[in-house]
Amino acid sequence: MAFPFDNSAYHYYNFQNMKKVYVETYGCQMNEHDSERMLSILSEKGYTPTQHPKEADVVIVNTCSVRAKAEQKAYSSLGRYTGLKKKNPGTWQDRLVVFSGCVAQQEGERLLGRFQGLNVVVGPSQVHRIDELLARARTEEAVVAVAPEQGQDRFRNPVKDVHGIKASVTIMEGCDNFCTYCTVPYLRGREVSRSARSIMDEVQALVASGVREVVLLGQNVNSYADASAGRTMTLYDLLAALNSVSGLERIRFITSHPRDITDRLMHAFTDFGKVCPHLHLPVQSGSDRILKLMARGYTTARYLDTVDKLRALVPGIALTSDFIAGFPSETDEDHRDTIQFIRHVRYDNIFSFKYSDRPLARSSASADKVPPDVIAARLGELQQVQLAITREIYGSLTGTHQQVLVEGDSKKPGRQQGRTREGRIVNFSGTVPSGTLANVLIEDFSDNALYGTHTREEN
Ligand code: 5AD
Ligand code: SF4
Repeated sequence: MAFPFDNSAYHYYNFQNMKKVYVETYGCQMNEHDSERMLSILSEKGYTPTQHPKEADVVIVNTCSVRAKAEQKAYSSLGRYTGLKKKNPGTWQDRLVVFSGCVAQQEGERLLGRFQGLNVVVGPSQVHRIDELLARARTEEAVVAVAPEQGQDRFRNPVKDVHGIKASVTIMEGCDNFCTYCTVPYLRGREVSRSARSIMDEVQALVASGVREVVLLGQNVNSYADASAGRTMTLYDLLAALNSVSGLERIRFITSHPRDITDRLMHAFTDFGKVCPHLHLPVQSGSDRILKLMARGYTTARYLDTVDKLRALVPGIALTSDFIAGFPSETDEDHRDTIQFIRHVRYDNIFSFKYSDRPLARSSASADKVPPDVIAARLGELQQVQLAITREIYGSLTGTHQQVLVEGDSKKPGRQQGRTREGRIVNFSGTVPSGTLANVLIEDFSDNALYGTHTREEN
């Protein structure tokens, strides 16, 4: 039995007599999803989630190593939570501190020397074993589980207690690309596709519990290939199968590698009504010289060809992207090419990041680093240019009717929130049950949402 740290929590704890778990998550959607999986596994074992680390019996810090800043934040949280144990020695054995995710994978056993009071170090391909690792940690001094799991076992224990109308489903994990700036292939390991049967089972169960939209997750979903049932199933085939799940309304998938978008996959947007006209297609840079140094495997011309084909096939498709500002040796001219590229493509939105040196990634060995102030200025410019485009696109939607899948109430009282098929957030006045497809007249917009009024339900 564990003892919380302050008395009020102690009484509450005794009264409730339930174990509590606190999870703090950094990084990508896959990490968010891994946190949900751990919570789901532990809730089956009688834990309830808490927002307050001080009252938790198990504290989990689920970490990201993609940029140095996220890694630093994870360490400072870990220091805080193991520090809490030191200040309250009576609770030393009872409270378990878990460090999971990519930084755990990267550092492994070394963390135990640095952080006294850390009980479990668990890599991303082992999070499905969280319950068993916690049980071991109650009798052993510390447990380290970072051996890469390359089989189907890693997909075990999907999230069970989904309440919303939207859910993420892992379809593959890992990456074989080794872009020169990226740590993911070293930490998430080689690509492993989950069996289509297991994906279908999970989606069917989710739909039965009220889910109407699924987001298929993987570092590189275009490489999805499942040969377990005889013939090889690709992402296109998987989308075909999911399209026939009755009760499911919308399907998205993330993340796509621009090099691997085939003509066949593009046709999934027109062949299958449930596949939403929205594609996240991270380009990283608009300079061919930099793309080559990043080892991305495509040129800007080829990427633009894909964009043209997609737009011809799916008019109005919303494209989003990732950009890295200040990759080693990036010149003003490379940067201007990227700005031009953003203006040319006219993304709905972009995620842009300052280049961050990652020790495992090849680009960290470059002697030609861009100074931090230059990186910051370039990032600011990328964001400014994109903001103007987002405003233009959102502005052009004023006066149109959009099909919105209602997700629930928005933060503002009396208003509801949902998304268009293109993935744009819509806040609107209305009283429509969650999970309904509503027709909304768009009347206004902000930098990250549309605003409107519900006109009628679509089903
Ligand atoms: N520095 C900055 N951004 C990075 N990303 C990946 N590695 C790095 C790095 N070392 C960005 C890429 C990727 C997104 C998830 O994170 O843009 O698409
Ligand atoms: Fe990293 Fe490149 Fe793989 Fe994306 S495709 S996870 S950026 S190595």
